[in-house]
Amino acid sequence: MTGIRIGCIIGVWVLVLAVAHSFSQEEMRFVDNSVFEKPVRAPAIFEHDFHNETAGLEDCTVCHHLYDEDGKLVEDESSEDQSCSECHSTDGSDSTPSLRRAYHLNCKGCHLKAEAGPIMCAQCHRTEPAVEATEE
Ligand code: HEC
Ligand code: HEC
Ligand code: HEC
Ligand code: HEC
Repeated sequence: MTGIRIGCIIGVWVLVLAVAHSFSQEEMRFVDNSVFEKPVRAPAIFEHDFHNETAGLEDCTVCHHLYDEDGKLVEDESSEDQSCSECHSTDGSDSTPSLRRAYHLNCKGCHLKAEAGPIMCAQCHRTEPAVEATEE
C-alpha cells in the first residue's frame, strides 16, 4: 500500500520535473524570434547554459538586467523571469533600445570586447534548414 503511494508520488514528481524542465533555459537552443512580426533571419543560435558555462558568465544580470520605473538600473537584481521584449519593443517606440538593437548591443558588444564569440550575421543567424537537419 505505502509502496504504491510512494510510487505514485514519485511518478507525479517526475512528471512535474519533466514539464518544468522542458520550459527551462537549460533546453534553450535559440533566442526566440517569434515576437518579431516578420523575422527576416533565422533565429540566433544560443545554447543558454552551455554558452554561459563556456563563456564563464556567472552573473545573470550581465544580460538579465533590471531597471525601475525611473529608468534606473537596480544593481544585483536579475530580471530572468521577464522576456527582453517586455521592456524592449520591436519598433523601439519606448525610451529603451529596440529589441533588435538591444540584442545586437548585448551579444555582439560582448563578443567584440571579449574578442571571442561570433560577430558575423550568419554565425548567429544560421539558416534554419541546416540546423533542423542536424537535429534529426
Ligand atoms: C552575436 C549574435 C548575432 C549576430 C552576429 C547578429 N545577430 Fe541579428 N540578432 C541576434 C539576436 C539574438 C536577435 C534577436 C532574436 C533572434 O533573431 O533570434 C537578432 C535579431 C535580428 C533581427 C530582427 C529579427 C528578424 O529576423 O527580422 C535582424 C533583422 C537581424 N538580427 C539581422 C542581423 C544582421 C543583418 C546581422 C549582421 C550584420 C546580425 N543580425 C548579426 C543575434 C545576432
Ligand atoms: C549571455 C546572456 C545571458 C546570461 C549571462 C544569462 N541569460 Fe538567461 N536568457 C538569456 C536570453 C537571451 C534569454 C531569452 C530571453 C527572451 O526570450 O526574452 C534568456 C532566458 C532565460 C530564462 C527563461 C527561459 C525560457 O525558456 O523562457 C531563464 C529562467 C533564465 N534565462 C535564467 C538565467 C539565469 C538564472 C542566469 C544566471 C545563472 C542567466 N539566465 C544568465 C540570456 C542570458
Ligand atoms: C525590466 C526591463 C528590462 C528588461 C527585462 C531588459 N531590459 Fe535592457 N534595458 C532596459 C532599459 C530601461 C534600458 C535603458 C537604459 C538607459 O536608458 O540607460 C535598457 C538598455 C539595454 C541595453 C543598452 C544599455 C546596456 O545596458 O548595455 C542593452 C544592450 C539591453 N538593454 C539588452 C537587454 C537584453 C538582451 C535583455 C534580455 C536578456 C534585456 N535588455 C532585458 C530595460 C530592460
Ligand atoms: C558578457 C559576454 C557575452 C554576452 C553578453 C554574450 N556572449 Fe556569446 N560568447 C561570449 C564568449 C566569451 C564566447 C566564447 C566562448 C568560448 O568558446 O570560449 C561566446 C560564444 C558564443 C557562441 C559560440 C558557441 C557558444 O555557445 O559558445 C555563440 C553562438 C554566441 N556566443 C551567441 C551569443 C548570443 C546570441 C548572445 C546574446 C543573446 C551572446 N552570445 C551574448 C560572451 C558573451
